[in-house]
Amino acid sequence: MSMNKTKKRKRKEERPATHLRNKYSENPPDFAHLASLYPSFEPFVFFSRDGRPRVDWTDFNATRELTRVLLLHDHRLNWWIPDGQLCPTVPNRSNYIHWIEDLLSSDIIVKTTSNGDKVRGFDIGTGANCIYPLLGASLLGWGFVGSDVSDVALEWAEKNVRDNPHIAELIEIRKVESVKETLPLEGSPNGMLDSTKSKIELTENMEREAVPLPSSSSTYHGPAILLGVVKDGEEFDFCMCNPPFFETMEEAGLNPKTACGGTPTEMVCPGGEKAFITRIIEDSVTLKYTFRWYTSMVGRKLNLKILTSKLWEVGVTMVKTTEFVQGQTSRWGLAWSFLPPAKQLVSSHVAVKNNLSFMLEGLDRKFGAIHVLESTKSFFSCSGASCNLNTSSFTLDITMTKDHSDAILKGGPQDYDRVVSCEDKQEASTSSSCLNLPSNNLGFRVSVFQQNPGTLLVKGSLQQRDCQLSGAFSPIFQRLEEDLKQKFCRRK
Ligand SMILES: C[S@@+](CC[C@H](N)C(=O)[O-])C[C@H]1O[C@@H](n2cnc3c(N)ncnc32)[C@H](O)[C@@H]1O
Repeated sequence: MSMNKTKKRKRKEERPATHLRNKYSENPPDFAHLASLYPSFEPFVFFSRDGRPRVDWTDFNATRELTRVLLLHDHRLNWWIPDGQLCPTVPNRSNYIHWIEDLLSSDIIVKTTSNGDKVRGFDIGTGANCIYPLLGASLLGWGFVGSDVSDVALEWAEKNVRDNPHIAELIEIRKVESVKETLPLEGSPNGMLDSTKSKIELTENMEREAVPLPSSSSTYHGPAILLGVVKDGEEFDFCMCNPPFFETMEEAGLNPKTACGGTPTEMVCPGGEKAFITRIIEDSVTLKYTFRWYTSMVGRKLNLKILTSKLWEVGVTMVKTTEFVQGQTSRWGLAWSFLPPAKQLVSSHVAVKNNLSFMLEGLDRKFGAIHVLESTKSFFSCSGASCNLNTSSFTLDITMTKDHSDAILKGGPQDYDRVVSCEDKQEASTSSSCLNLPSNNLGFRVSVFQQNPGTLLVKGSLQQRDCQLSGAFSPIFQRLEEDLKQKFCRRK
């Protein structure tokens, strides 16, 4: 087998699947069991030759009924959508919610909102299915504003909220006025707004009938997204968005392997996801600290790169990305913030400790030292650092330059580099070795020890105390601790 094929297969196997805290990560839906409990689902379940219960993913009625019973059975949610509307898959949508949960619980940016301990989110384009507010409220008790432009979406989202009185108080469905065409707003060359203008005024501006604009497929000309929809004085912990990914219905291309529905209003916008998310970025520049985290799903990796560069250009302080794998398809999560990082970056005057350690407790049985070491390796190699894993001594030797260390400390775990340039950087950096360190590189060893079942000790030992980057050792090790705890430790 060629090297290329081996590499490709390895990468595929390493692709992240379901979030560890996702209810379905260890227990995927049991169709036969659900069919025995819910007679309305039974006709959609058949058994393949190997005896496994299956569902026909190309049948919209089957996927909708599956979503209905999963929401009812696992989340005690009453739910329905009319024919043809976009039908969400519950395990996939839960991944995005858990990723946001990770962002909110990590302390990489300062905590600011005045909502106390209550988490409040904004779901841009909540759809008829209203899936994110329903899941976020029922799983985590989060409050939501769910916005949409389409009358069908608004009517059904409201119905789905009303049908769940136990969480209805947490969710507000907000109408976004549709416009034929949105004018570029006066006061800035790129249509960005003067933040001193009142939001009411902005809404009015956006709603007026437009003179047709020279249409550019790369610019968003649709209704307001955040500016003009968020009210004065409101604060949110995050916004999220599953944007209309495509420019045309042909591009949406109706995946023959699935039938998740989706009308043109749900799936398509001029300029596609790039234009839509670019408008969210522009809005965020004006709204800045109104949200702790701005997030969106991105459907194409190329757009992820372009949007990430745009984010750095507009002066965000933090960008994080993740990959969501949905069967054969990948989607990405993009998050950014304007808030200052909570932890100081490397100071040249910190007292340097040679040895640091932390415990990982409450691990699932299926995870041992080797999984933690592999995850540690991917954490560091994605910043471009060189990593040398020894599976018999359960140690990992890491060597990094200042750029690698900055990438980890600025972006934190799972940042841009992890997705867009991990492979290139890994290749470029494998030549340096821990044993022969130039004094301006940081070298340290991570060792993992099994303490008792479910508990591991992770130790870090600095190889050269007097190297210029030794002050980065402690904050980098802290970032590793956050990353591993998020990935492996169950919430108490
Ligand atoms: C791909 S669907 C997502 C629906 C749902 N959130 C989900 O994940 O299944 C995109 C939604 O965005 C809505 N939409 C389009 N433009 C919008 C805007 N400017 N503001 C709010 N919603 C918008 C569409 O009507 C549609 O319901």
